[in-house]
Amino acid sequence: MAELLTNLDKRTKYCGLFTSEDIGKRACVMGWVQRQRDLGKLIFIDLRDRTGIVQLAFDSDTDKEIFDKAFGIRAEYVLCAKGVVRARGEGAVNKDRATGEVEIFVDELKILSAAQTPPFEIVENSNVKPELRLKYRYLDLRRPDMMSNILNRSKITKIVRDYFAEQGFIEIETPNLIKPTPEGARDYLVPSRVHPGKFYALPQSPQLYKQLLMLSGFDRYMQIARCFRDEDLRADRQPEFTQIDLEMSFVTQDDVIEVTEGFLKRIFKDFLGRKLETPLMRMTYAEAMERFGSDKPDLRFGFELKNLSSLLAKTEFRVFKGAIDAGGSVRGINIKGGGAAFSRKEVDSLGEFAKTYRAKGLAWAKNTKGEISSSYAKFLTEEENKAIYEAMGFEENDLILIVADKDHVVFDALGALRCECAKRLGLCDPMNFKLLWVTEFPLFEYDEEEGRYYAMHHPFTSPMDEDLEYMDTDPLKVRSKAYDIVINGTEAGGGSIRIHSPEIQQKLFDVLGLTKEETQEKFGFLLEAFKYGTPPHGGLAFGLDRLVTLLLGLDDIRNVIAFPKVQNATELMTNCPSFTDEKSLDELSIAVTRKEEE
Ligand code: AMO
Ligand code: AMP
Repeated sequence: MAELLTNLDKRTKYCGLFTSEDIGKRACVMGWVQRQRDLGKLIFIDLRDRTGIVQLAFDSDTDKEIFDKAFGIRAEYVLCAKGVVRARGEGAVNKDRATGEVEIFVDELKILSAAQTPPFEIVENSNVKPELRLKYRYLDLRRPDMMSNILNRSKITKIVRDYFAEQGFIEIETPNLIKPTPEGARDYLVPSRVHPGKFYALPQSPQLYKQLLMLSGFDRYMQIARCFRDEDLRADRQPEFTQIDLEMSFVTQDDVIEVTEGFLKRIFKDFLGRKLETPLMRMTYAEAMERFGSDKPDLRFGFELKNLSSLLAKTEFRVFKGAIDAGGSVRGINIKGGGAAFSRKEVDSLGEFAKTYRAKGLAWAKNTKGEISSSYAKFLTEEENKAIYEAMGFEENDLILIVADKDHVVFDALGALRCECAKRLGLCDPMNFKLLWVTEFPLFEYDEEEGRYYAMHHPFTSPMDEDLEYMDTDPLKVRSKAYDIVINGTEAGGGSIRIHSPEIQQKLFDVLGLTKEETQEKFGFLLEAFKYGTPPHGGLAFGLDRLVTLLLGLDDIRNVIAFPKVQNATELMTNCPSFTDEKSLDELSIAVTRKEEE
């Protein structure tokens, strides 16, 4: 049934591009059948390609053989159709469609492929289960919204390449089979056949290589780099994802920020057609935590955190007192309008929500049309209650939410609550872009369970000069020259000025508790390299998938990745990962000791 394409079948134009200017011209189009309508003496076929849809028309003047062929055509058949473009009749114009004024009156038709009925209809925003969409991803990608996401991603990467090339960045590829990298997540390992028992790692980022390229003298490097991290997935995380990776020599933090802002300005202008005001706001990590309970504050709404601990210094309420006595704090947010908008039941659900962030409870005070109810007021004195209302600016229809705990729990819970409430109140318009830099991140964090320090960004991040003195005495006090670019509450990118002195690098490894042997084994090549003339350098990496998701106003990075993985890191279409045969394992000198049940 399939007919063959010949050299005479040359497409004249994509389906979605026909306008009244084409009337009277001959056209040849190729594409998929969106639908076929048989009106007895008339047949219409909507033909779709990546640009849109054009209507093909067949009527009593159509050659009988062609008319009969058109009669048998079903959705998703692949056609090559030729004919003359003509204006549609008065009442037949479709104003909702770019090509709605015209149709192609077909006089040659080939069915290039027949098609089974697809498992879901190929239409925009269809309510199909995500699992089914991913199993038939190639069909999902035919849907105009998904098609448009991927096309937009390509437009954005083109702007990326153009901008950074103009700024003198050299595009250089770094290897994907590397020595295990020391960034936060687990590595994906690749066994070596030639070296039994040895493994490569897939890069979590090109970090070390891009630094070495600075040593080589390339001065400005960029790469659209694939990165691999074996970590728990969320809506903004994939096991393999793409970075816009940058590194620059002879720069300070301000220089990296300036180039990055130039890039953002360009992408806003060329892609969104909007003006981005720069310089962007900068906020220290300490301020971001104190005011928003998060190192990636969403500035589309207020609801800032207030520390109530000093007002409650003498309180007898055991929950608040307990937290303060244990060195923690009592903090609150005022959800303006939340008192009127949220029912008691919804406030209770916010309490449950807070518990998922390890808060032991949520104290609240609610003003509904002037009537105040509260979960904690009865445990406080009148003065204490008044002081809280005053500090929080509690007014009619407001909702105060309070968490008492260790600081990090209070920040986590309130930081998440303010975003959750904003979401429920409809304050999160994705196209209302609020960008900022978060700076002066702590260099280290301490893992209580393991009793050791970790680098918050990565171990090549430079400490701030003024904090060097605390490296030995009080590492948690040391701030770093690390910065994140935050868009609407998402970390879109991050980077740092690097250490370029072997002594400071060694000191940092000391704090991390790496022995001389371990440093030598892991980073010997880097420390060695640093001995041969290292320019001061720094850089940044954007998460490309995240950036595209944000720019398109979407909320899941899977919608801008052609073939993403699901939560448990499987790919539903090909069903990977999968078991492999004994022979391949044997070749790799690998014995599997434990197997997942099928
Ligand atoms: P970092 O680890 O912060 O820095 O990563 C940079 C950016 O990459 C994105 N990102 C991810 N996107 C999707 N899925 C993931 N699993 C994922 N993990 C990270 C984020 C993040 O901001 N080498 C350093 C950069 C540098 O210092 O120059 C690095 O990788 O948007
Ligand atoms: P209880 O006496 O335990 O019922 O607590 C009284 C009120 O304090 C309730 O509204 C609890 O939800 C709230 N609460 C309990 N623990 C905390 C906490 N760690 N932070 C804030 N509020 C809490």
